[in-house]
Amino acid sequence: MQAINIGILGLGTVGAGTATILQRNADEISRRLGCRLVVKVASVQDRNKARDCDCSGFEITENPHQVVSDPDVDIVVETIGGETLAKQLMLEAIANGKHIATANKALIALHGEEIFAAARDAGVAVYYEAAVAGGISIIKSLREGLAGNRVSLVAGIINGTGNFILSEMRDKGRTFADVLSEAQQLGYAEADPTFDVEGIDAAHKLTILASIAFGIPLQFDNVYTEGIGALSLTDVGYAEELGYRIKHLGIARVDERGVELRVHPTLIPQRRLIANVDGVMNAVLVKGDAVGNTLHYGAGAGAEPTGSAVVADLVDIARNIVANDAARIPAIAFQADQVKQLEIKPRGQFECAYYLRVEVNDVAGVMSQLSKVFAEREISLEAITQKEPAPGATAVSVIFITQRTQEEKIDSAIGDVETMSDVRGKVTRIRVEHLN
Ligand code: HSE
Repeated sequence: MQAINIGILGLGTVGAGTATILQRNADEISRRLGCRLVVKVASVQDRNKARDCDCSGFEITENPHQVVSDPDVDIVVETIGGETLAKQLMLEAIANGKHIATANKALIALHGEEIFAAARDAGVAVYYEAAVAGGISIIKSLREGLAGNRVSLVAGIINGTGNFILSEMRDKGRTFADVLSEAQQLGYAEADPTFDVEGIDAAHKLTILASIAFGIPLQFDNVYTEGIGALSLTDVGYAEELGYRIKHLGIARVDERGVELRVHPTLIPQRRLIANVDGVMNAVLVKGDAVGNTLHYGAGAGAEPTGSAVVADLVDIARNIVANDAARIPAIAFQADQVKQLEIKPRGQFECAYYLRVEVNDVAGVMSQLSKVFAEREISLEAITQKEPAPGATAVSVIFITQRTQEEKIDSAIGDVETMSDVRGKVTRIRVEHLN
């Protein structure tokens, strides 16, 4: 049986998960593929470090350049992460005629255009299923399964660490730092966990999803990004009372006026399936004009779930090798010369509903002043709730849920509200998506 040789860059969480699956499921994979996927060599930073996989069947090197230049390696798996060395190695591998499977979302989001162009020139494939939503085959679904559709919306929980933190805080009242530390131990968090907490990791993934959903260039810099660090348990609780759940969503939406690319905490009605995606699980909602809404669900991080996506790419690439057609599927699903920039909406043009919490003095007339600010801007209100003041307190929380409106109107309303003499401090704003 023909063997296709794999070289792995990095045996951390994802690299070790990939090696383990390739070994454990070798026979099953061969039954599918008609040839064998064999790990020939893997590079590590320190060969003496303990590994989470059996390394007895392949060579270990501390020189990653050896992997990308090994004449026997057909496909390079890149799981070292980061931008600089990973990019250099990937371009070297491409120049040496190797195909690539990578889990590196930052690299694809920031340098994908250059890498894909180099791959096209060299006649090799760069696959990156593991870069987005761990084990969920969302790239394949968008590129192939939904290829008959005009996609108008992609909205997803695409950072497992962030979702794990929010779920544990809400359900168990655990502290942010405690849950983050567990996510790091479980191998969910990025090397720099601020990428998870501040939404950068989700923005990398959204960049990729938007590109393959709409056929637009990769453009990380155009993604509006807010993390989960500023969320308070107060708002988590009020959202629940109002029938919503707060999730950290990546949203890419296109309409006749342009594209919205945004990552931020979002209130979602509790009855939506995606509102009930907890822990490290990810889910991506895709709306196509033919298929309607589809929801793609699974583990968004972790060794074997992410390794599962890498191995699926290896199987696809191996099939391409056998068929002698590396470029069968374009890197971002659209023909390279058909990828077109669309108008990207600035934040003020975003359209959604809003949860606004205002702390006010408990005196007569405040509510009518607040209502007037919204009415003047033609912002319709869906719900208004005033919380009971705590015993002895002189301030109360008032919560507004607006109907869909433009963000610049909300900015202007918040500006006026914050200057009112009976309003205390800043208004808390969380976007609301009904996803229906
Ligand atoms: N840090 C990422 C997450 C890993 O938590 O989702 C998977 O991309």
